[in-house]
Amino acid sequence: MTPLISAEGLRRGNENTLRLLARGADDVRLVAAQLFGSRPSVVGEAARRVAEAGFRLVDLNLGCPAPKVRKQQAGAALLGDVGTLRRLVRAVVAASPVPVTAKMRLGPTASDPAPLAAAKMLAEEGIAALAVHGRTLAQRFSGPVDTEAIREIVEAVAVPVWANGGVETPRGARALREATGAAGVMVGRAAVRRPYLINQIEIYEAEGREIPPPSRAELAEAILFHFDKAADLDGEERAARQFRKHLLAYLKAARGVKELRPRAARVASGADVEAVLQAWVDVPDYGS
Ligand SMILES: Cc1cc2nc3c(=O)[nH]c(=O)nc-3n(C[C@H](O)[C@H](O)[C@H](O)COP(=O)(O)O)c2cc1C
Repeated sequence: MTPLISAEGLRRGNENTLRLLARGADDVRLVAAQLFGSRPSVVGEAARRVAEAGFRLVDLNLGCPAPKVRKQQAGAALLGDVGTLRRLVRAVVAASPVPVTAKMRLGPTASDPAPLAAAKMLAEEGIAALAVHGRTLAQRFSGPVDTEAIREIVEAVAVPVWANGGVETPRGARALREATGAAGVMVGRAAVRRPYLINQIEIYEAEGREIPPPSRAELAEAILFHFDKAADLDGEERAARQFRKHLLAYLKAARGVKELRPRAARVASGADVEAVLQAWVDVPDYGS
């Protein structure tokens, strides 16, 4: 899935927004474009555009707490106003040639009934599946995930629900799925640090086996692949600057590499990225 894309930005032809639609020729697995916005006609038009650009799924962001998104009455701000949200969703589902899913979170407080009412309405209006981050707006991205609140939504709607929040391990994924009754789980930050976690979860769910992480050398190769793809899209220099946060996240998942972090935070070229990765491969003390 793409990062969240501003429907207004697409309408205005904003260059940075349009870049988010760019895909490499072989990116067959990038299937969904996530949109945010609040004007029904604008988000509907954006859905049409991203479908024309080849995305096979449109996902509507109803969970983002960022001020720049909420200021537009988009993201999580929409969850409190079911009437407005219904008009928006109806327009997007009608305009979109591909299925529309939605990503939401809990309301201002866990007991706030608005998200549950919104979820029921979303299913009524033809949303194909729903991801629910089980934290309140006030919690933002930390603290316990309210599995009961997700379960209530799972039980109230006929569409598949993906439970989200706090999954760090295959066992954690299963625990969240079982506690909520959800059809699946969605993993956020842990997968940014450890993309192989998705594979570990899939194997654990299918076969009950916990597989070890890839070797350092395998990881370094995958990270370089990630960088090469970014450089194809953005050019080496820009990609390197933007890659700092990814490199830091990858390193965060590994022990014994503290001294590499300042270097990772300054990479400015593909050669810098490679040098950090080589140093990482050479560090003898490696954790998960
Ligand atoms: C830096 C950051 C960026 C995020 N960007 C998006 C986004 O673009 N769209 C979205 O639906 N959720 C976004 N999220 C929320 C995650 O999808 C997820 O709901 C949240 O991190 C909780 O899951 P986790 O505990 O597994 O990380 C973002 C979260 C973080 C921390």
